[in-house]
Amino acid sequence: MLLAFGLCVVGALAEKTLVQRAASFSKNVSDCPGYSLHAVEATGTGLTAQLSLAGPACNAFGTDYQNLTIQVTYETETRLRVRIADSEDSQYTIPESVVSRPAAPTTSFTNSSDLVFNFEPSPFAFWITRRSSPNSAPLFDTRLSALPETPIPPVITGDESTALDGFSLVFEDQYLQLTSSLPLDTNIYGLGEVIASSGFRRNLAVGGGSIQTLWTRDVGDPVDGNLYGSHPVYLEHRFNETTNEAQSHGVFLFSSSGGDIMLLTPPNAKQSLVQYRMIGGILDFYFFSGPSPVAVIEQYGALVGLPSWIPPWAFGFHLCRWGYTSVNDTMEQVQAMRAANIPLEVMWNDIDLYHAFRDFTSDPVSYPGEEVRAFIRDLAANNQHYIPILDAAVPHLTNASDVYAPYSKGRELDVFIKNPDNTEYIGQVWPGYTVFPDWFANATQEWWTEAMKNWSDGGVEFSGIWLDMNEASSFCQGSCGTGANLNDTSVPSVQIPGTPGNPVTDYPECYDSSVSGPSGNITINGTSTCTNSSSPSGLSVRGLGAGAQSGVDLNSPPYVIHNGFGDLSVHTLATNATHAGGIVDLDVHNMWGLMEEKATHLALQELQPGKRPVIIARSTFPSTGKWAGHWLGDNYSKWEYLYYNIQGILQFQIFNIPFVGADTCGFQGNTDEELCNRWMQLSAFAPFFRNHNQRGAISQEPYRWDNVAKASRTAISIRYSLLPYWMTLFANASMRGTPPVRALWYEFPTESELFAVDRQFLVGADVLVTPVLRPNVSSVEGIFPGRGQVTWRDFYTHEVVKASSNGTATLSAPLGHINVHIRGGAALLMHAQPAYTTTETRGGPFSLLVSLESHSNAFGTAYLDDGLSNPPAESRTVTFSSTANELKISSRGTFTVDQKLEELTILGVSKKPSKVSVGGKNLQKSSWEYGTDVQELAISGVSVDLNSAETVVSW
Ligand SMILES: *[C@@H]1O[C@H](CO)[C@@H](O)[C@H](O)[C@H]1NC(C)=O
Ligand SMILES: *[C@@H]1O[C@H](CO)[C@@H](O)[C@H](O)[C@H]1NC(C)=O
Ligand SMILES: *[C@@H]1O[C@H](CO)[C@@H](O)[C@H](O)[C@H]1NC(C)=O
Ligand SMILES: *[C@@H]1O[C@H](CO)[C@@H](O)[C@H](O)[C@H]1NC(C)=O
Repeated sequence: MLLAFGLCVVGALAEKTLVQRAASFSKNVSDCPGYSLHAVEATGTGLTAQLSLAGPACNAFGTDYQNLTIQVTYETETRLRVRIADSEDSQYTIPESVVSRPAAPTTSFTNSSDLVFNFEPSPFAFWITRRSSPNSAPLFDTRLSALPETPIPPVITGDESTALDGFSLVFEDQYLQLTSSLPLDTNIYGLGEVIASSGFRRNLAVGGGSIQTLWTRDVGDPVDGNLYGSHPVYLEHRFNETTNEAQSHGVFLFSSSGGDIMLLTPPNAKQSLVQYRMIGGILDFYFFSGPSPVAVIEQYGALVGLPSWIPPWAFGFHLCRWGYTSVNDTMEQVQAMRAANIPLEVMWNDIDLYHAFRDFTSDPVSYPGEEVRAFIRDLAANNQHYIPILDAAVPHLTNASDVYAPYSKGRELDVFIKNPDNTEYIGQVWPGYTVFPDWFANATQEWWTEAMKNWSDGGVEFSGIWLDMNEASSFCQGSCGTGANLNDTSVPSVQIPGTPGNPVTDYPECYDSSVSGPSGNITINGTSTCTNSSSPSGLSVRGLGAGAQSGVDLNSPPYVIHNGFGDLSVHTLATNATHAGGIVDLDVHNMWGLMEEKATHLALQELQPGKRPVIIARSTFPSTGKWAGHWLGDNYSKWEYLYYNIQGILQFQIFNIPFVGADTCGFQGNTDEELCNRWMQLSAFAPFFRNHNQRGAISQEPYRWDNVAKASRTAISIRYSLLPYWMTLFANASMRGTPPVRALWYEFPTESELFAVDRQFLVGADVLVTPVLRPNVSSVEGIFPGRGQVTWRDFYTHEVVKASSNGTATLSAPLGHINVHIRGGAALLMHAQPAYTTTETRGGPFSLLVSLESHSNAFGTAYLDDGLSNPPAESRTVTFSSTANELKISSRGTFTVDQKLEELTILGVSKKPSKVSVGGKNLQKSSWEYGTDVQELAISGVSVDLNSAETVVSW
């Protein structure tokens, strides 16, 4: 959670810029001379060349480098790297130990890559084209002739830094700038982390645009501001109406530096542009050729690392809140969930668990270790799990009588971040004065693993770990403990919600507590007249970086990025905080969370050998998915945030961190019955499904209201029955980087009406979710992709959707009903008997849902394994494919599936069959039924062995 500190006020969501930026940004760069290229040498895998400053240094926001080296590498047929670095190798670069990437290519793709690097030497510029479509506009183009004529007054009104004058390549120690033109009508997705007011598709509106600031920040979910994670990667989709050609590609800047990525369309310009403004590091670009959006995401995953394997229990329902006062209070939640028969898989605790807010502890009075142990063992006996919070900062203690091993041991092993003078860096978080693990230090991993082990040995027998506050968050500015009374454990300016003087009084839009009282109870679809709300549309030598350079301004880099907190050191580690070897936080700030996630993952692998680690983390960076999942942070109990939930999930699929979800029912402020009902149902179709609440807000566990309980049971039952589908989607993510959750257009890339759709989403290719995102309605409008060529069937009734000519349909959506549709041509393996936990569910038989397209075709696969082994031990892939009046079930692999396939539902069978056979044997009439209304053939009472190589079902 975050501190009640400089929060934006909901209702005026657009965050105001807190900083005075250089009033004449453009003057600083307009004189920059650019570079000229020489000494080109072809290499086996691309080329290298030298770049020299083409005129007098401009020193716009730092000192120009005279000499740069460019390396172009065709890494695969679909991935091209363009790396521009200072020839001195003085700038910071990300080491392999933090983000490892595939080995350099040994064969040449220079002539086979779909991406082609083109350049002009003076002024140096490059552009990337597609070999397969040489006449289309370049995918990326830094030529001055491709960019608008300057000067251009501020493109975003009121932001002087969006005035543009000159697009030369700038490469300084504290400022790097590179600009590419983009077609006016292109579509950009990704860059993050952000909650974008424009929606999932980034704003490139003429005379405006958007700015993605890269600086990880502990802030409760502001709109259009930088927040927890840093992701300089985008997915671009281009569609040519004339040729009906649609192609996607991706662009990734591999940098941990702070920066702004500007997406702008100047008024009257013939093109849009993307401009990178980085305050350190180098320009290390990777281009991915796609050409499908899913392929782009897979290609990015193959570079940074594929997502970790997720065990089935992590797909169960998770319950948490800040404010469970004791282990018994926590246990009562588990009992109440059971009593209400709402499946609960994983129980969590927030910092209430801790003694004096200290990591790796449990409070001796309210959470005694042995009681916690007994509680967790009870959970385990019922196939349930426990996940505790682990905060980033570790308390600093000086009082010798206060025994706290994580600090004393860490100090002994020298694992904490330092001040430039080598003294301890001391910030302030929940426990008071704190130190921060330095993931670059040699002994940190060992120390961290041991602390986690001791914690678990002491009773907190966690199944997984929740990493919070890892931007890293600090409540005071700078090393505030230096010279202070370190025995003072109070935290100045902390306002814990729900304490006297700080009640939680906010409610969802449309909920009027002066009329309805504080309970959050509503009259369903009745008295409210509110019609809501917002509907917002192989280099081994590397530079140490700024820590070793003279003349750089560590504390206030001259180019002021659009950090929502202004100064870079606000609410986090100071930029001059120093890591092992002299690396300064300025260069590596954005990776703190990632490095903690990796260390925690490795620790879990050691403590739970052979099992799949489950980690949910807040601050993320490219490759986080390899180690952890993500929750969307401290959102609000608002309808607007229910909508933002969808773009958040979609964004993290691009980042290859697919295991993601929002705090269901909303974290900050009070929720209400109706919002919580709709949200429990939406999140049942999100990868990570957790209800989490703020301290002091009204309770929002799903059993608190009967209708929320009912809606939750319904949606969770569907979720658990779809578990084989989720497991298959996530196996494909872990094996290939395929995104489990998809925007509609990923599957229908030539249907331009889908490019901005972010109020619906697809789970895999086949399950379309159309949630209600507004209060006080009982219907929802959805679009059904395929332009009439694709059949969409209602998940519940199996009826075919009748969409209007523009593909939209208004669907009935009373409270407690979430619209889910199955694509024609899908074959989904499911669990026939969704139960209280995923373990029990998985123990039961399978069912199969087939939705025929054109009365004959369907295809699907299911990946099956034990769900727990890491890496997966044995697996089996079952393929379902239907043509004409026959369904073939083929199976291969080594894993033995014990459960049988007992029920099959085949939709779209055009007429009643005269006989039905399974595996060559005719079924008795009592084993199948045909429903004429929805053309449904329902087979039951069979027992298909999913291990047999082939089984044919015919009708
Ligand atoms: C840049 O390279 C040139 C040619 O190799 C060399 O003479 C010059 O000293 C270099 N400049 C710097 C600042 O390293
Ligand atoms: C679309 O394709 C046509 C035909 O190849 C071409 O003339 C046109 O320039 C393309 N449009 C864009 C925006 O690339
Ligand atoms: C929890 O309840 C048990 C049984 O009533 C009691 O013995 C124990 O002290 C309680 N624990 C806490 C931390 O309140
Ligand atoms: C870490 O270990 C290596 C190899 O033993 C050593 O060279 C290096 O000095 C150590 N670094 C620190 C910061 O202790």
